[in-house]
Amino acid sequence: MTGLPDGPLDRAACAALDRADPLAPLRERFLLDQGVIYLDGNSLGALPAATPPRLAAVVTEEWGRGLIRSWNDAGWIGAPRRLGDRVAPLVGARPGEVLVADSTSVNLFKLLGAAVRARPGRTVILSHEDNFPADLYVAQGLCELLEGRCELRTVPSAGLAAALDADTAVLMVTHVDYATGAVHDMAGLCAAAREHGALSLWDLSHSTAAVPVDLDGCGADLAVGCGYKYLNGGPGAPAFLHVAERLQGVVRSPLRGWMGHAQPFAFEPGHRHAAGIEGFLCGTPPILGMAALEAALDLWAEVDLAAVRVKSMRLGDLLVRLVDERCAGLGLELASPREAERRGSQVSLRHPGGYGVVRALIDRGVIGDFRAPDIVRLGLAPLYVRHVDVWDAVDALREVLVTGAHQRPEYAVRAAVT
Ligand SMILES: Cc1ncc(COP(=O)(O)O)c(C=O)c1O
Repeated sequence: MTGLPDGPLDRAACAALDRADPLAPLRERFLLDQGVIYLDGNSLGALPAATPPRLAAVVTEEWGRGLIRSWNDAGWIGAPRRLGDRVAPLVGARPGEVLVADSTSVNLFKLLGAAVRARPGRTVILSHEDNFPADLYVAQGLCELLEGRCELRTVPSAGLAAALDADTAVLMVTHVDYATGAVHDMAGLCAAAREHGALSLWDLSHSTAAVPVDLDGCGADLAVGCGYKYLNGGPGAPAFLHVAERLQGVVRSPLRGWMGHAQPFAFEPGHRHAAGIEGFLCGTPPILGMAALEAALDLWAEVDLAAVRVKSMRLGDLLVRLVDERCAGLGLELASPREAERRGSQVSLRHPGGYGVVRALIDRGVIGDFRAPDIVRLGLAPLYVRHVDVWDAVDALREVLVTGAHQRPEYAVRAAVT
C-alpha cells in the first residue's frame, strides 16, 4: 500500500500528500534552487546543506591548520572503514563488511579479480546482457588480462539462474537496472549461485538508500556501490565495496597498495594483506570526497529506510498514473515495471525523441536524464522530491509533447553527458 487516493488526482491532492509525508521536512536539509524540479538524484544526488560547511572546515581547519597531522588527529586514516561501517546498515551488512574507497568500477575490478581467483578451475563470469555497460567493460578487461583463463558470458536477465553451471566462478548482477529500474531477485539469485558453487557479486549503485537491500540476509558474497547517487556524496564521490565476513581472508584483492597492507608504515618490500575488509584498500583515500560523503551519511543515519521505500513507491506510482492519465496518445511507453515492488526509485519512459524531451524538460526546470536509445529517465529521490514536483513534471512533459517543443533543432545535438 503506497497510499495514493483512488479518486481523480489534481495538484491539490498532490499537495495534500506532501502535507501528510513524514519525510517532507528532510527537503529543507538540501540546497535546491527554487523553480528546479530535480529528478536525477539517481545519477547525481542533490547537495546536502551540511556539506559546504563540512567541506570548508575540513579544508581550512583539518588540511590548512592540521596539515599532515590530520591523518591521525582528524581521523583521516580511518575514513574508509568508518564510512564503510555507516554504509553497512543501508545495505544489510554488518560493521567490518563494507569499505568506502575508489570508484565503483575499480572496486568491481578488485572484487571480480578476487572472486575468479577464489574459484580455481572455474572460468566463467556470468552476467546479464543488459547490465550497466561499464560493469561488462570491467569484466572484459579482467578476462583480457587473464588471457583466456576466464571469460565473460552474458545472457538475458531472466535466464541468469538457468545459465549457472559448474564453470561459473562468479555471478555478477546489477540489483536495480540503470535504464528501466527493474529490481533483480537478490535472494533467489544468491541461492542459485550458492547451489552451483559460484560466488555472487552485486552492483548496488541504483539500490543503495533507494530500495531495501539485505546482503547478509540473502547470503550475498560480494557487492559494490556508488556514493554519488542516492547517497548524495557529491560528483565522483568515493564508492564502496562489501565482502561478506566469512570470505574475508579467502578472497584477496588483486590491486595491492600500501593502504591494504597489514602495516603500511612498516614499509616492508613484500605485500601482506591487512586483516579484514581493510585488505581491500589500495591507495590513499581522497579525504575531501570522503568528507562530503560523510556529511551525507550523517543525514542518512537519521532516516527511516522503510519510510523512504514507501514514499519512493508512492512517487513512482503517482508518476506512472499521471503519465497514463495526462499523456496518453503522446508517444510515451513505460519502460519500468508497473508494479512498485519490482521497480527501483525511478520511472523510465520510452519515447522516439527521448533526448529532445529531456532537453526540453531541462529548459523548463525539470531535470531528468536520457539513456540511449530512447529512455527518458526520471529519478524520484524521496528525501527531496515532493508529490507536487511529480505533478508539475508531468505537466511540463505533457506541454513539451503537445507543443512538439522536443523537436527543436538545437536538441538534436547531443551533449557529452546525456
Ligand atoms: C550500475 C552502475 N555501475 C557502475 C557505475 C560506474 O561507476 P563509476 O563511474 O563511479 O566507476 C555506474 C555509474 O553510473 C552505475 O550506474
